[in-house]
Amino acid sequence: MPALSSPAPGVQSANFRFRCIACGDLSDAANQDFRCARCGDLLEITYPRWKEAKPSPETLKAAWSQRRISQSPVDLSGVWRFRDLLPMLGTAPDEVRQIIALREGNTPLYELPRCARSAGIAHLWAKHQGMNPTGSFKDCGMTVAATFARRAGFRWVACASTGNTSASMAAYAARGGMRSLVLVPEGKISWSKLSQALDYGAVTCQLRTDFDGCLRLLQELVRRAPVHQLNSINPFRLEGQKTLALELLEQLDWKPPDHIIVPGGNLGNSSAIGKALLEMSELGLISRLPKLSVIQAEGANALVRTLRETGGQRLVSVQAETRATAIRIGNPASWKKAAHVLEATGGACEQVSEVEIAQAKAEIGAEGIGCEPASAVTLAGLKKLVKRQFVKPEESVVVVLTGNLLKDPDFTIEFHRGELFKGSADENASAMLEPLRRAPIVLDATLDAVIRTLEQAEKS
Ligand code: F0G
Repeated sequence: MPALSSPAPGVQSANFRFRCIACGDLSDAANQDFRCARCGDLLEITYPRWKEAKPSPETLKAAWSQRRISQSPVDLSGVWRFRDLLPMLGTAPDEVRQIIALREGNTPLYELPRCARSAGIAHLWAKHQGMNPTGSFKDCGMTVAATFARRAGFRWVACASTGNTSASMAAYAARGGMRSLVLVPEGKISWSKLSQALDYGAVTCQLRTDFDGCLRLLQELVRRAPVHQLNSINPFRLEGQKTLALELLEQLDWKPPDHIIVPGGNLGNSSAIGKALLEMSELGLISRLPKLSVIQAEGANALVRTLRETGGQRLVSVQAETRATAIRIGNPASWKKAAHVLEATGGACEQVSEVEIAQAKAEIGAEGIGCEPASAVTLAGLKKLVKRQFVKPEESVVVVLTGNLLKDPDFTIEFHRGELFKGSADENASAMLEPLRRAPIVLDATLDAVIRTLEQAEKS
């Protein structure tokens, strides 16, 4: 690692510029904290050339479709296939070779008929980002941000994380020959995610604080050390995560659903999906905007409170607590970006209880799909939005499942064994979850015992 006092390499732009989300200041390079040099707010990436020469929607759709049959690594990536709407390195073969990719994106869109019935609507799909190489949506952003980090000459990348970002960052850093530093809250991330970071070779620090504390420390670190931060404050991450929406609309033959529903934690993903929807509309790729809604856990409801109590003018931070540890975040960095896209698309913001999350997760599992707890807030939130009549029974809805079922096996096992809410304030309320439980059955190794179990199960 270079001496801590050596200057950090700058991030240079190519076909894009940085724009401050508050004062609109445009620049060609960003500081390491990715904050505006004039007013300190967050930066986003913008494509000024679209003003002079808007890419035509038909040409874009044809190019993206054509690349699906290509065997080139850049086209096999479900992110870089959409590179016309990404910060690009140019198309020269040596530049394309610099891309760090793991065949991210290309995720399935599943119908969820039983969950649709349970929510009281006709058509429900799940865009399953948990089917990415490291098991979460983070990979779509990481391929872009890691590529630009290496291009800018960094040897070290770093993140604060509730688990998935660290797993993804560690994988892409390893693939790209960079070292990685992970800051996670001690005891508050799942073993699966922690084990990924370790196996991919990250220097992993479990800090005695929460996610918000880890992120604060990282912000200070990047000002002092030549490490490049790969949290979603990094706008390259959000550009990669935009492709979720592009791929989704392509899968729906460019017919927008009425609603897209996404979990909210640090609020980078909702901001990215919203940015993609607005850009698709600007470029004429879609003729109307789906409503983008964000769902949070009741115990980590900073955006819900921010919108309800201040009309989106000022962040209301909370002390976060939820078993959906991926979204256990009380001071979301991208709250302004998320508030903007909710308003621009006409979406809603809702919160759900721990019991509602557990129920929704079991229902998604029972469709043979499964997801981690943070992803299940989407179905739980959808049910509330239907009750509120914000979502109408005949409308089409896509929920974004952000993480794989295998990301948090402790939650799943505790749920099925009936231990998840034992001794908690939710114990009584959780009794209604009984029919969804499938506890493992320990038996003597005899044919009789297995047949008896089968017969009992047939009756239930
Ligand atoms: N779902 C999952 C599975 C996540 O891991 C996260 C965030 C979110 C939803 C929320 O997305 O932050 O963009 O609003 N996980 C981060 C991490 C914070 O460190 O892995 P967001």
